[in-house]
Amino acid sequence: MTAAATPVSDAGRASGAVTVRVPAKVNVQLAVGGRRPDGFHDLANVFLAVGLYDEVTAAPADGLRITAEGRDTENIPLDATNLAARAAAALAARHGIAPDVHLHIVKDIPVAGGMAGGSADAAAALLACDALWGLDTPRDALLEICAELGSDVPFSLVGGAALGEGRGELLTPLEVSGPFHWVFAVADGGLSTPAVYRECDRLRQESGTGDTIDDIPVPAADPALLAALRTGDPHALAAALGNDLQAAALSLRPALAATLRTGTDAGALAALVSGSGPTCAFLAPDADTAAKIATTLTESATCLAARPATAPAPGATVLGR
Ligand code: C5P
Repeated sequence: MTAAATPVSDAGRASGAVTVRVPAKVNVQLAVGGRRPDGFHDLANVFLAVGLYDEVTAAPADGLRITAEGRDTENIPLDATNLAARAAAALAARHGIAPDVHLHIVKDIPVAGGMAGGSADAAAALLACDALWGLDTPRDALLEICAELGSDVPFSLVGGAALGEGRGELLTPLEVSGPFHWVFAVADGGLSTPAVYRECDRLRQESGTGDTIDDIPVPAADPALLAALRTGDPHALAAALGNDLQAAALSLRPALAATLRTGTDAGALAALVSGSGPTCAFLAPDADTAAKIATTLTESATCLAARPATAPAPGATVLGR
């Protein structure tokens, strides 16, 4: 492993390197059930893939090597703990081969931002290695490996829109039209997903509802939200957006309240924390309003950057070799 941010060379591409593009996600509904005995939470998690992308290139190498370039890459581990490296190792192990690959990640998805950037890189690495090594692994087996790697990884492979149940990994694809126009306010620094779930549990205990599966009913997808995705109606989607982790993210990062307010005042139909945060997501009625919200947010100093993006976006896709 090396920490150098060296792009894969043209020579690498010529020798059979494979590049995969993979989208970020926003959770348009994140209904969180009680804490299970295994520590995870049952979810009704409606994922929507959005057009902010990372690219992962898998190139031939001796041994497993990982490099990265782009936004915030100093906060990504460039060793075997990186989820993309674990994806390559898991695929190689399944086929009984050595995980010989140089993975190069070009990051545009916020790091630790609640937009599944790490999960996206893992799904992309899996697809890229499968093509590089000529394995032709069946889609179901790839999805199984994704689920072992993390709750959000299967969705990064699939894209579009999907309902995630169980801990989020049991996916049902959803009908979705669009485009939906979003703006994402990137925060300075990330939030740890386990810490946000712990805070959610703590707030539930404090409020007296309890935090286990005996205290909280199994969550279900909201039919009005699914209909809004199907018809592509941003006003109906705005009315149905919901994130049970938002209170916990705000409790850990109170400054996000000002970010949410700024985007709403600038014309967003609705604002919510994306997943476990701290990225804030704003749904706009059209592309012009999205551009205006992004400018207002950028000038407000309540976030590091504001990025317009449309949804739905396709899942992990091989760009070429
Ligand atoms: O599955 P993943 O590795 O992305 O989950 C990261 C952490 O988020 C878990 O270790 C757990 O603390 C929390 N989590 C949870 N319930 C879920 C998904 C994640 O408690 N359904």
